[in-house]
Amino acid sequence: MALELIVSKIWKIYEGRPVLRDLSFVFDRKRIYVIMGPNGSGKTTFLKICALLEVPDKGKVFYLNSDKKRLPKDINLFRKITYVFPEVGIFNASVFDNVAYGLKIRGFKKKEIVARVEEVLDFVGLIHKKKQNALTLSSGEAKRMGIARAIVIEPEFIFLDEPTAFVDMKNTEIIEKILLQIKEREKSTIIIATHDTYFASKVGDIILKLENGKLLTENSA
Ligand SMILES: Nc1ncnc2c1ncn2[C@@H]1O[C@H](COP(=O)(O)OP(=O)(O)O)[C@@H](O)[C@H]1O
Ligand SMILES: [Mg+2]
Repeated sequence: MALELIVSKIWKIYEGRPVLRDLSFVFDRKRIYVIMGPNGSGKTTFLKICALLEVPDKGKVFYLNSDKKRLPKDINLFRKITYVFPEVGIFNASVFDNVAYGLKIRGFKKKEIVARVEEVLDFVGLIHKKKQNALTLSSGEAKRMGIARAIVIEPEFIFLDEPTAFVDMKNTEIIEKILLQIKEREKSTIIIATHDTYFASKVGDIILKLENGKLLTENSA
């Protein structure tokens, strides 16, 4: 059974204005959840809180294992969660090293690092670029590298913030295919923030809308 993410009655207030208000939700299936909403509606704030990169002003966010026991917020949890920022942070190093970095800091052995990195680079269609300096990738390729960097960890949860921003049609389609394949493997729960309605309809199993600080399912009022 999957790891569950429980979001319970969270509030986030910036300069007296609530961005998230008493928001509760349970992410409990290895599916693709898409969170829609216009710019400024709080998608990034929500994603970062879920990924434990920010804390809510009120309320709780926690992960439960298959025995419904709460997981501690320690390094083990960071093996299970990855967050991909809208603008992929790129090191001045090869594509291979950029993707390998997350495994190195998590203490993986060299042999396993090579095997995993080559597999994911093949998966996202960048294996022929593995020796290229990552700073010279096109924006679409950089996005795919960002996804490779996330999935190489084999996380239970992948958070993708605006995965199709600054990406052309062709690369958007490639990203769609990659996400649908990740979903088929049923290893990860994927939570995507986007304002791209068409992309959302293509990849989303569960479409949610962030509106007035609340998360609504698509057909709720
Ligand atoms: N660190 C911050 N300090 C002050 N206001 C912030 C901060 N982060 C986000 N906000 C505000 O919160 C609102 C939601 O932002 P954000 O979560 O980035 O929305 P989205 O990702 O949907 O565009 C915006 O009005 C934004 O200006
Ligand atoms: Mg955002």
